[in-house]
Amino acid sequence: MSKTATLTIDHLGARGDGVAKTDAGPVFVPYTLPGETVTAIADGKQAALLSVKTPAAVRIEPVCVHFETCGGCSLQHMGEDAYRAWKTGLLTQALAARGLDTSVMQPARFCAPQSRRRAVFSAISTEKGVLLGFQQAASNHVVDITECHVITPEIDAARPTIKELLATFLPAGKTVHVTVNQTHAGLDIAVEGKIAPEDSRKRAAADAVRRLGFARLTVNGEIILAPKRPLVAFGDVTVSPPPGAFLQAVPAMEEQMADIVTAHMAKSKRVADLYAGCGTFALRLAKNSTVHAVEGDGPALAALDRGFRDNSDKRLKTVTVERRDLARRPLTASELKPYDGVVFDPPRAGAEAQVREIAGSPVRHVAAISCNPETLARDLAILTEAGFTLKSVTPIDQFIWTPHLEAVALL
Ligand SMILES: C[S@@+](CC[C@H](N)C(=O)[O-])C[C@H]1O[C@@H](n2cnc3c(N)ncnc32)[C@H](O)[C@@H]1O
Repeated sequence: MSKTATLTIDHLGARGDGVAKTDAGPVFVPYTLPGETVTAIADGKQAALLSVKTPAAVRIEPVCVHFETCGGCSLQHMGEDAYRAWKTGLLTQALAARGLDTSVMQPARFCAPQSRRRAVFSAISTEKGVLLGFQQAASNHVVDITECHVITPEIDAARPTIKELLATFLPAGKTVHVTVNQTHAGLDIAVEGKIAPEDSRKRAAADAVRRLGFARLTVNGEIILAPKRPLVAFGDVTVSPPPGAFLQAVPAMEEQMADIVTAHMAKSKRVADLYAGCGTFALRLAKNSTVHAVEGDGPALAALDRGFRDNSDKRLKTVTVERRDLARRPLTASELKPYDGVVFDPPRAGAEAQVREIAGSPVRHVAAISCNPETLARDLAILTEAGFTLKSVTPIDQFIWTPHLEAVALL
């Protein structure tokens, strides 16, 4: 049963919600800050903020009109220094909880607002037209944004034309996910959802793609039209990513991560890049090392392979590719013997099975990239217990105003 309560916020939880300690246990209040007294409607452990009675000194005006409605951001109300300290603390605490050496933490790198070149929007066609934005927290409701301070100005400016495009084929009432990747050839739009547009609608969509200047439109993997070949650059190596491809969120942060990783691999003649995606690290590393890139997603791996072959003028060393499910069938310690360097960049769940094999291998240099401090810390602890030395961990905040954090660890 919901009831109105006055709560004092003790700290921020891992998802960025304020946490009040009560006799009945912790209560999570989004959009609050440590030290604040607030009134909220509490329903069990979750509460909705009604008003802030005593604001924290670090509370600031959020930059976006949609803050607290749109589920995209959760921390715009926190002053920059406090936000940065909290973000870095997520990683320090995760490492400390696993008994890892936190003295090796490097200064965090923070991305600028309006720098995210990959966005996954939600969209729905309604009587009022197409709504395009992010889902409200803990709800299916699509917030039709009129501004966004996270995505690049190019993607933000394209919102009206993306809606115009979607209006040509979206049936009423079906929510779809719209991945927008900004590429050198223009915006690459991949729509996924329970829709099956008729041929006449596909033709209308194709006309709109051409008229509105998009690079490519795919619906549930089917290419509707691709007037331009989407291209991204990993260093000076260009790759055409598949529809909806995973790309690091912010190019400037990708550059910094790649610099850290390539410097650590400088003395490695043979490198295995595990969870390689379209080649973000592999194709940069190939300037100096022969690289074996392993990845579970076929289209991503094909893009990496073609990127290697198309860039024969870039003086790359040999890159070989292997499609493999590394959670079920990790590269074994014995398969890792020929490599003196290993890079791994798994999804949020981490790479436990793979890391156990690396732990038993003679590999000398390891770089771990992760978007989840907790699974990163678990995986690093496996390696340090096996005798690897943790040399540095660099927090990379490429998910501004969210509780998500990237990091690069070197061993
Ligand atoms: C965080 S992304 C990193 C991709 C790439 N390193 C980059 O920086 O662009 C994780 C990658 O792991 C791949 N992946 C997820 N689960 C996998 C598995 N079980 N085996 C192999 N690859 C997997 C995904 O397809 C994705 O490309």
